[in-house]
Amino acid sequence: MVEIKELTKIYKLSKKQMAKMKTKKNTKVAVDHVSFTASEGEIFCLLGPNGAGKTTTLRCIATLLDPTEGQVTVEGYDTVKQGQDVRANIAFLTNEVKLDPNFTPDYLFTFFGKLRGMTEKQILARKEELFSYFGISEFENKKISELSTGMKQKASIAVSLIHDPKVVIFDEPTNGLDIITARAVTDYLKLLKEQGKIIIVSTHIMSEAQKLADRMAMIINGRCAFCGLLSDVLEQTGAEDLEDAFFEIYKRTVNVDSPEEQ
Ligand SMILES: Nc1ncnc2c1ncn2[C@@H]1O[C@H](COP(=O)(O)OP(=O)(O)OP(=O)(O)O)[C@@H](O)[C@H]1O
Ligand SMILES: [Mg+2]
Repeated sequence: MVEIKELTKIYKLSKKQMAKMKTKKNTKVAVDHVSFTASEGEIFCLLGPNGAGKTTTLRCIATLLDPTEGQVTVEGYDTVKQGQDVRANIAFLTNEVKLDPNFTPDYLFTFFGKLRGMTEKQILARKEELFSYFGISEFENKKISELSTGMKQKASIAVSLIHDPKVVIFDEPTNGLDIITARAVTDYLKLLKEQGKIIIVSTHIMSEAQKLADRMAMIINGRCAFCGLLSDVLEQTGAEDLEDAFFEIYKRTVNVDSPEEQ
């Protein structure tokens, strides 16, 4: 289980960042008391507009950032006190982490397998499975720099999943992909769900979330504006699909935050 309790992340801003963001405040509340849980065999989607706090939340779960307040546990391990145990149990994919352009998928897969302490036999078995699923074998000996966006993403996904972790945290995994490649990724997430993994994904794409998510959290301005089932949000808003429901929740939340804009 992944448990996020009252997670708050406040960034300190440099003078340069303050100037860029046109603010006099030297802090930015990126995530504001967000709570949710994700369980075995569940795909949990984090939805929200640009700058909502999705990546920050996922980075806190992945131990790359410490919460300012609140607590995150992954399979019972605290992300601050037991970071190593958390990292052993998760795959983390984000477009900020890129594979080295000078190496091949084949080399990088083996490299990260060794880094994870896997034996050559384990690495080979995993490579066979993931490379054939994603069709990576065809370009496994090409340099990353020579690959298309979709090929790079497939290679990144395979490398992130090398140790067959229980928890899969993907930040906008289908961003920039064509529908065929995007479908290969979302189908794989469904397969992982069937295997009883815990999957947390962020996305802007409401149609994708509507098909994929068992439950979801809508993050708006760092706060959780809705958390629950698709059927709940459709009922609450009277909308016919998730995109309309999201707009409705967004309108209500922004109006509550700044009633003078009404
Ligand atoms: N290192 C940082 N220092 C200061 N502010 C930051 C930093 N990283 C993110 N922020 C700010 O925190 C807020 C949340 O950012 P975050 O990247 O988590 O949003 P997001 O929901 O992932 O957005 P997007 O959909 O654009 O990826 C934004 O206002 C962003 O400008
Ligand atoms: Mg993001």
